[in-house]
Amino acid sequence: FSRMKNLFLAFVLGGPGSGKGTQCERIVETYGFTHLSAGDLLRREIASNSEHGAAILDIIKEGKIVPSNVTVKLIQRELESSESSRFLIDGFPRSDENRIAFEQIIGREPDLVLFFDCPEEEMVKRVLSRNQGRVDDNIETIKKRLTVFQELNLPVVNYYAEKGKLHKVSAVGTVDEIFERVQQIFSNYKCLLDQSSDEN
Ligand code: AP5
Repeated sequence: FSRMKNLFLAFVLGGPGSGKGTQCERIVETYGFTHLSAGDLLRREIASNSEHGAAILDIIKEGKIVPSNVTVKLIQRELESSESSRFLIDGFPRSDENRIAFEQIIGREPDLVLFFDCPEEEMVKRVLSRNQGRVDDNIETIKKRLTVFQELNLPVVNYYAEKGKLHKVSAVGTVDEIFERVQQIFSNYKCLLDQSSDEN
């Protein structure tokens, strides 16, 4: 597990529809990160008809949170099997329990935490206008996802703010405008990013 120490790990937090996935695509293109979306990993697990897939589907349909050990194990599998040295872990940790499970299983904290801050009515509008046929993109489930976000995710945001690792980004504006804000943050991490690519 010594490889883990040399990786650059960034967590990407924000409510449903705050634009995490959209900004992650831009970060990947510009900085060569590998993007791990907790939601995508879970949806892939469902599609693979694995042992946990059906149970995960029921939880996601309800807008609830999947048990931490399941999500962390999926992330661990990706971190171990990839050659990459820079990872964006999007939509994770969703709760203090998630965060603690990650620290215990992976054995370290992230280098940087981005938090996309977006008003609720804007998040609802964006999710409802998305047309990808996701089982959780209906008004009833979105409301539950927003409640889960307020109750479980905001304590994680506050934890990283207290540790001085959190970078709050206003998620209002065009995709380009928001990405400019993200680039300003990454410009302060240039040394650490260079180090992660040298050591791997
Ligand atoms: P997940 O897939 O992570 O979904 P989410 O957090 O609800 O976020 P979304 O993917 O809906 O939105 P996003 O912020 O990525 O926004 P996007 O860029 O797509 O999680 C789904 C479920 O999986 C959870 O509810 C939970 O059940 C489970 N889960 C996930 N992680 C878990 C964990 N750690 N533990 C347990 N369970 C977990 O943008 C949204 C739309 O807006 C798009 O159409 C986009 O084109 C548009 N848009 C983006 N930016 C802008 C902009 N600036 N202006 C206008 N439109 C914009």
